[in-house]
Amino acid sequence: MSNVVSIVGAQWGDEGKGRMIDYLAQSSQVVIRFQGGDNAGHTVINDKGKFALHIIPSGIFNPDTMNIVGAGTVVNFDTMSEELASITKKGVEVDNLFIDVRAHLIMPYHRLLDGAQERSKSEKAQIGTTGRGIGPCYSDKATRSGLRAGDLHDLEFARTRLEMLLPQKNRELAFYGLPEADIEELMALLEKWAAAYRDKIIDTLPVVRDAYETGQKILLEGQLGVMRDLDWGIYPYTTSSSPTSGGAAVGSGLGPRRIDEIIGVTKVYSTSVGGGPFMTELFDEDGEKLRSIGKEFGATTGRPRRCGWFDAVATEFSCWINGFTALALTKLDVLDTFETIKICTGYMIGGEYYNHLPETALQELAKPVYEEHKGWMSDTTGARSWDDLPKEAQAYCRRIEELVGCPIKYISVGPERDQIIIMD
Ligand code: GDP
Ligand code: IMO
Ligand code: MG
Repeated sequence: MSNVVSIVGAQWGDEGKGRMIDYLAQSSQVVIRFQGGDNAGHTVINDKGKFALHIIPSGIFNPDTMNIVGAGTVVNFDTMSEELASITKKGVEVDNLFIDVRAHLIMPYHRLLDGAQERSKSEKAQIGTTGRGIGPCYSDKATRSGLRAGDLHDLEFARTRLEMLLPQKNRELAFYGLPEADIEELMALLEKWAAAYRDKIIDTLPVVRDAYETGQKILLEGQLGVMRDLDWGIYPYTTSSSPTSGGAAVGSGLGPRRIDEIIGVTKVYSTSVGGGPFMTELFDEDGEKLRSIGKEFGATTGRPRRCGWFDAVATEFSCWINGFTALALTKLDVLDTFETIKICTGYMIGGEYYNHLPETALQELAKPVYEEHKGWMSDTTGARSWDDLPKEAQAYCRRIEELVGCPIKYISVGPERDQIIIMD
């Protein structure tokens, strides 16, 4: 493995990034979550149990790996505490967790505004956010009105910032008919967070530089996928940060040239949680079957995920935007009982054929064009090498590789840590 490996979602999120990070973290010294907040739901199943991680990096299970919540993230220390409690209860050591001073604080008013902004939209216009305050927090970051984790080292400074920011924030809350924020209540919260996390909030850059310069293995953990990217995703149905390999460089403190490998994690079919276009969505028995066999329910919100066939056009776009060096295909086993499997190779939009992904407005009108593949109709969950896979499954994977234009490096055939095939 190269020194710095970025793991990013190649679709709409929930591709299985958590399981890939958990697997690769066994041989890595540092894992950096580079964007997003506790809106993530990264499922990890290993010898310690089953976990749904939200803000804690998925390398936490290796006590020898330093886990960093990076500069590009937004952090709610209340939900972080709940998450830490749920994993320490299962005997996981969490001394190896640190938060960068530059990460932004998700304040209670961010969550309130997230909910109110969603409710103020018509059903069709709703983004379907996780309600964790992500959008309002990143908005404050962009308007230079945020508080950062490092501010917990200087509570007087934090108070000065709040005194300056709250009048405007309270007008926003009032606009939505929400109660005003009280500075003393917020200060009490910041004091509680400072007491619990002061020692964990550090400038991670010297540590990351040292790790890089001494040849340690570093993993960059993305949340969500390119289709929810603020710039390149299905705006406005996106998240408010950049889950791409470009975002990995920005949010971790490792410049683009220092990233050796970019692994695009993709399911062998498609799912999406939340609003916006989703070209291959199935409303029939096949869609139901994918959802029930794949257990496609949100790890953060529990919402049923929209399910559809593999969209090679969207994933090829993802490969271009991210510059993948390799693919990790996940959930091959979910297709074990499908007699026929489809891949979307293009779209019809207004009578015209598209073999590339257009912008959001046109995606809303796109009708998928499919090619059909014969299913393998046998159990792949025990496969541990390429040769163990039925020839129809091999052909299906090779076709994905060809259409996306990127070599496959990993194929997972079940949620457990060892249910993975590593390609030569
Ligand atoms: P993430 O957000 O990208 O980490 O993905 P999620 O954890 O939200 O969703 C992936 C789901 O698929 C989780 O429930 C995983 O346990 C599960 N999963 C991951 N890889 C496989 C696989 O190869 N086969 C099966 N059946 N489930 C998998
Ligand atoms: P992981 O990390 C799937 C979606 C929401 C919504 C949009 C914006 O498991 O991939 P946000 O709360 O970020 O403002 O919501 O992004 N979304 C997710 N979809 N998995 C997630 O987590 C998601 N986190 C956010 O549904 O459309
Ligand atoms: Mg998820």
